[in-house]
Amino acid sequence: MTQQLIDSFGREITYLRLSVTDRCDLRCTYCMAENMTFLPRKDLLSLEELATLCESFIKRGIKKIRITGGEPLVRRDLMSFIHKLSKHRISGKLDEITLTTNGTLLSRYAKELKLNGVERINISLDTLDPIVFTKLTRRNALEAVLKGIDTALEAGIKVKINTVALKGVNDTEIPSLIEWAHNKSMDITLIEVMPLGDIDEDRVDQYIPLNAIRDNLEQRFTLNNVPLRTGGPARYAKIKETGGILGMITPLTNNFCASCNRVRVTCTGQIYTCLGHGHKLDLRAAIRGENSDAELERLLGVAMREKPEKHFFDISERGAKPTVARHMSVTGG
Ligand code: GTP
Ligand code: 5AD
Ligand code: SF4
Repeated sequence: MTQQLIDSFGREITYLRLSVTDRCDLRCTYCMAENMTFLPRKDLLSLEELATLCESFIKRGIKKIRITGGEPLVRRDLMSFIHKLSKHRISGKLDEITLTTNGTLLSRYAKELKLNGVERINISLDTLDPIVFTKLTRRNALEAVLKGIDTALEAGIKVKINTVALKGVNDTEIPSLIEWAHNKSMDITLIEVMPLGDIDEDRVDQYIPLNAIRDNLEQRFTLNNVPLRTGGPARYAKIKETGGILGMITPLTNNFCASCNRVRVTCTGQIYTCLGHGHKLDLRAAIRGENSDAELERLLGVAMREKPEKHFFDISERGAKPTVARHMSVTGG
């Protein structure tokens, strides 16, 4: 009998975030250093192996799979992988297959994503200013991202914009980003920057708590908290003037781990049970070895026992090492 995934705090794990590559075509300054060492290609699980792994998770009660990266759309043949997964959605075993992307390649893939049953995607976009975009991502790609967003909307995909709040970079632009998103009937969620991995800047210079952003927004808009829950860490408010919903993800100022329902698996088959901890287990050896099902069962049991209660992020000391050495691009958030 395969076990349901329930951790030692009684949290039911029904959501798998699968990073299909740690590579990316952008270099956001809060996410990566300019010169990154990526995982050697030979260490990657093949798409067939990733699909087998997903099936093992589905057997254990996973209902939602989010494909992340790095930038997931840079992984070759991703569409055939999603097509394979979509069969589990059609059969009703999965409730949702979704994607978090930076949008640069979306104009090429949006239609196909929709055809393969991807109904909603999250697109990371921190600014609409081309100069700020190029400085922040160290690549000149705003036009491609905007085209990608429009193609996704035209294809009938529901889009949520994810914006990391960055002091002195986009904090003053956030009201107009919200208006822009809501005008296009897109939801938008703000995220506090997290101390993950060494980057070229100091996090103290980047970090701004979302309560400061909210105070500023309330000068201009009427925000009413709403009890909406999507199973994710965001808390929501409705903005009266735009009629749209604003999400806020506050890993630094307001811990939301009590309702955590997720685990993360990387493109080399490592399972991380918490974004805020370095602890991982190697599923690749298990699926490549003998008795793979029994070994996977054993490892997932260990993972559930060891899933930490919560994260402890801190951005207060200049020059401090990041709370977690791993970059966000390894697990895709
Ligand atoms: P929905 O399915 O739309 O609710 O999406 P989501 O909020 O689960 O996924 P999304 O990719 O939009 O997540 C947005 C960001 O929230 C991630 O990139 C992370 O920065 C952050 N985040 C998501 N899950 C966690 C978590 O478990 N812990 C922490 N600390 N941050 C998280
Ligand atoms: N802190 C918070 N969010 C981050 N992201 C990448 N690195 C960080 C970080 N250090 C965001 C991206 C994207 C999502 C996958 O994670 O902007 O929205
Ligand atoms: Fe790439 Fe996303 Fe990291 Fe930006 S935040 S460098 S788009 S993985």
